Parts: sequence; structure tokens; C-alpha cells
Amino acid sequence: ETSGHSLLLFGFQNVQSGNVLILPGEFSHWHNMRVIVEELVERNHSVTVLVSTASTTVKYAKEEGFRFQFISVPIEESDFRAMWDKLIDVWMQYPNSSILETVSRGWTLMDSLSTYPSVFCKSMLNETNLGTLRQSKFDVVLFDPFTPCGDLLADMLDVPFIVVMKLFFGYSLERICGQMPSTPSYTPTQPVHFTDRMNFQERVQNFLQYIFHTLMFFAVMHVQMQNIYTDIKEATCSKCLLCYI
Ligand SMILES: *[C@@H]1O[C@H](CO)[C@@H](O)[C@H](O)[C@H]1NC(C)=O
Ligand SMILES: *[C@@H]1O[C@H](CO)[C@@H](O)[C@H](O)[C@H]1NC(C)=O
Ligand SMILES: *[C@@H]1O[C@H](CO)[C@@H](O)[C@H](O)[C@H]1NC(C)=O
Repeated sequence: ETSGHSLLLFGFQNVQSGNVLILPGEFSHWHNMRVIVEELVERNHSVTVLVSTASTTVKYAKEEGFRFQFISVPIEESDFRAMWDKLIDVWMQYPNSSILETVSRGWTLMDSLSTYPSVFCKSMLNETNLGTLRQSKFDVVLFDPFTPCGDLLADMLDVPFIVVMKLFFGYSLERICGQMPSTPSYTPTQPVHFTDRMNFQERVQNFLQYIFHTLMFFAVMHVQMQNIYTDIKEATCSKCLLCYI
């Protein structure tokens, strides 16, 4: 991750000053992005952080050298927090749960997560907000894929994007969108706490977890996200992550 950051910042050094739009995730994802925001500000780039009014962490940060642009969403902060609590709960209980328990929790979770992406994406990318964002003439969008539609935002603004993230369930986004090599026999999935030395039973379990996460990923992306993307932009999204659409 550190080398990723320095590469990114090095790339900006020849430019006098860039105009950067950031779409961060919440909680630890925001801390991760915050480091990059601080470095960009330090190097005199103009930084705008897009944040939903339902945000539970990002919007409470002090605007130090960057500015917030708010996306007003018809969702209460308490409902948004409840959604995250459920997700964190599934994550925490995951290592001690059977696959069946996880599938059943995952299903309940998907149900409760189903309205937010659509509501958020449609608000962020409505004519009014898009018009305002276009006027700012950003050079690049940095987004955390835990916040939906960052790639669609970049596509609609017609600027390049950079994905910034920690890790995804079962490394699905990294493997499927980023072609990250990951051999089930040696690379333990997240968030199961195996090491690279697994016995036969753990390897089988690890392999099943990869399959489970891959199926969940395709279910969420192709059933839910694809509908949202085509609802917002009928023409194909040429710059979106290939695995989404
Ligand atoms: C940023 O701008 C300040 C004031 O204009 C200047 O002193 C400083 O050297 C600049 N920093 C970089 C990294 O360009
Ligand atoms: C777009 O959303 C904003 C709130 O984020 C709202 O104020 C505005 O009226 C909406 N515009 C359209 C065209 O729906
Ligand atoms: C999972 O189980 C281990 C050992 O059985 C225990 O130490 C740990 O606290 C449990 N974790 C949770 C989140 O319940």
C-alpha cells in the first residue's frame, strides 16, 4: 500500500497542481483514504471530498486543506449506521461461523443493504449534482469501492479514476477486477484467520470460501449493481471496472 501511495503522488509531481475528487468509504476506509488526502494537500493539490449527508464518520472530520461537497440523501444517519453495524457484525462473527450461518447472515445483510446503493448513486449522479461536479473540472477521481458508483462517477465526468482500498471480502474485487493472483492452497481468504500453512481440511475450507465469495460478488454486482448502473446511464460505461458490467 505504501508503495502504491508514493507511486501515485510521484505521478502528480510534474503537474503544477491537480484538482482531485475523492469518494471515500466510512470507518477504517476513511482513515486509509485520509492519509492520501493529507499527502495531496501537503503537495498543494486542490482536494474535494464527496460525502453523503448520512455519513457516520467522514463528515465529522475537520476540513483541513480540503473541502467537503455534500450529497444530500433521503436516508437517516441512524439507519446508515445500523446498516454498517450489521455488516461489521457479520464480519466479526465470520471466523467462528459455519458456511451455512454465514450464507444466511449474508443473505439478510444483502437484503438490508439493497436500498442504499441505489439511493446514494441516484442522488450523487443526478443532473444537479453532476452539473456542479462538471463545473469543478476535476482531473481525477479517487474512490473506495465500498462506496458505490465511483467508477460511474468518473465515467460521467469523463476523467480517469484510481481505486483505493484495503481489502474486499474474499479478495473478490482484487481477484476478479484487479487480476490479483491468489492460490487457494496458500493464500488464506479474508476474513478467515488461516495462515499460508494450512492442513488439508483448512485448504478445503479455504477453497470453499473463495467459491462462496466469488458467487456472492457476482450476485451483488450482476443482480444489484448492474441494474443501478444501467438505470443511471443507459449507454455502456466504457471506463467502469470490467467485472461490474
Ligand atoms: C505549496 O505552496 C506553498 C505556498 O505557496 C509553498 O511554499 C510550498 O513550497 C508548496 N509546496 C509544494 C510541495 O509545492
Ligand atoms: C439532486 O439531488 C440534490 C440533493 O443532493 C437535490 O437538491 C436536487 O434537487 C436533485 N436534482 C434533481 C434534478 O433531481
Ligand atoms: C472465536 O473463537 C475463538 C476460539 O474458539 C475465540 O477465542 C474468539 O473470541 C471467538 N471470536 C468471536 C468473535 O466470537
